[in-house]
Amino acid sequence: MSDDKEHGSGAVEPGDTSKRVGAEVIRERGLDPEELREKLIDAVGAEFTTYYYYTNLRMHLAGEEDYKEIAEDARLEDRAHFELVVPRIYELEGSLPNDIRDFADRASCPDAEVPTPMDDSGNFDTSDLTVEDILEVLLEAERCAIRTWSEICDMTREADPRTYDMAQRILNEEIDHEAWFIELLSKERDGEINPAGHFARGEPGDAPYSTNNRFNDSA
Ligand SMILES: [Fe+2]
Ligand SMILES: [Fe+2]
Repeated sequence: MSDDKEHGSGAVEPGDTSKRVGAEVIRERGLDPEELREKLIDAVGAEFTTYYYYTNLRMHLAGEEDYKEIAEDARLEDRAHFELVVPRIYELEGSLPNDIRDFADRASCPDAEVPTPMDDSGNFDTSDLTVEDILEVLLEAERCAIRTWSEICDMTREADPRTYDMAQRILNEEIDHEAWFIELLSKERDGEINPAGHFARGEPGDAPYSTNNRFNDSA
């Protein structure tokens, strides 16, 4: 390769596989790629655990098929967010924790648990469980996600267009999700009409902004 081309060489020696230009260009622009990738692991930890918790929350919206459908869209899109960003962590020489407990512990958002006690035999005490309680958990989980991905947009805006593109696409969907749950909670709890301005996704969990390359039908 000719040496006289502007970008023909740089901080990484030719043939050196111990470093990545894709990470060094981020560092050269003032962002620490190690700090970013650790932040991304925390963020996808929250997407993954929220996907799990939403499974339980959705089930306990028993008899509220329209609410279940919206919760399902948000649930599947969190899985899409996890799938979208995990490869980026490896590009930045990070990895997912081997122990899922470590992964859950470092998630950047609180556990979105069903807001009712569970008895010793593992059954929820649903006697006092209300739809509005569940909707409030869902709403606050979305708000945490908006804060998380906004922070990652801020970190990457000038330094890392690839991560920024992922984060802003996820943020688009998290803002959709907040609007959905504001609409549902306002109606359910306060009898107020507070339109999201949206309709349910065409297919459950369509992820119109963040969907990953569709390697197969479940991706
Ligand atoms: Fe998400
Ligand atoms: Fe969300």
